[in-house]
Amino acid sequence: MTLRALHDAAREKLDPVHYDYVAGGAGEERVLADNERAFDRYRLLPRVLRGSGTRDTAVRLPGARRAAPVVVAPTAFHRLMHPDGERATARAAAAEGAVLVTGTASTTAVGGVVEAARAAAPDPAVWFQLYLHPRREVTEALVRRAEEAGCTALVVTVDSPVFGRHTRDLRNGFTDLPPGHAAENMRDLPGAPPGSLTDIPMSPALSWRDLGEAVRMTSLPVLVKGILHPADARLAVEHGAAGVIVSNHGGRQCDTVPASVDCLPAVVGAVAERVPVLLDGGVRRGGDVAVALALGATAVGVGRPVMWGLAAAGEAGVRAVLAALRDEYDHTLALCGGRRNADLTQDMVVRGGRTW
Ligand code: FNR
Repeated sequence: MTLRALHDAAREKLDPVHYDYVAGGAGEERVLADNERAFDRYRLLPRVLRGSGTRDTAVRLPGARRAAPVVVAPTAFHRLMHPDGERATARAAAAEGAVLVTGTASTTAVGGVVEAARAAAPDPAVWFQLYLHPRREVTEALVRRAEEAGCTALVVTVDSPVFGRHTRDLRNGFTDLPPGHAAENMRDLPGAPPGSLTDIPMSPALSWRDLGEAVRMTSLPVLVKGILHPADARLAVEHGAAGVIVSNHGGRQCDTVPASVDCLPAVVGAVAERVPVLLDGGVRRGGDVAVALALGATAVGVGRPVMWGLAAAGEAGVRAVLAALRDEYDHTLALCGGRRNADLTQDMVVRGGRTW
């Protein structure tokens, strides 16, 4: 099934309020639309006769060597999509050899997510996405939970000093999880009574110092997600980041930022010699993966397509999404005369139809 067909099937199946929660963005959804549209402005200029009969799309990432440069981006509340929720996503990512970034806002505790991944493949790569908590001991408790579960890297999301204003959710009155669902990683945190759940707080008071503290809390590599400005990419590396993720949160935070792929080249120029640069937002086909890699990304993340696969067909649907992207990417690599990801280079990208 194509990604579009899985999206249509998901839309049919889901409660419209939950569909809107995933599909929607902030404000007038300008950034949401632009993330996808931006990829239409890029074209690849293939090289020919480069002997690319045998191809290897493997990628080396912090805490993971994987067969393809496509990562499952962290998204909240998978049990709204399918009763098997994050466990199904974890099994699918592990079986397809993709990194899964599991979120703080997961409806399955991180231990259960890693356990499901391990049941599907012997050596899965699960990273834990963390929102820094204004109280350091809470951040530390979440880091320990991720470590004890067996996560191999942390992803600290820094683009959410305050909640984005999701127009559809506000219109639909979707402000709370339905009964029976909870952000399970937030259970029984320090200072909270046993059995209690704590909301995931956002804090505009956080600073690079807090990021530095989080890096020092753990021996796991820490990637910083939500970087758009090249100066922030440099600061992230100076504060110990093992990688940066260029992302505008899928258009769910500030509705006046550029498409994420348009921010990629400057960030690559600033830090790609020192750490891997990943990108997410609007990646919908293998050609988009190839454009991002040619612009200097090491790998890309996909958010909504995984949720649509999950809603449409559970584990099999997520596998279908990851397999389609990997297969289309390999096909595009062959069409561009590449044998390895590194054979896609910046001179092979054309923007807005302008060659030279
Ligand atoms: C997200 N995203 C996200 N990011 C994050 O760091 N923590 C989170 O809890 C969430 N939650 C979340 C929920 C939903 C429903 C969506 C759609 C997205 C953002 C996500 O990691 C990623 O940046 C975008 O989804 C990438 O854009 P695409 O692939 O959805 O276009």
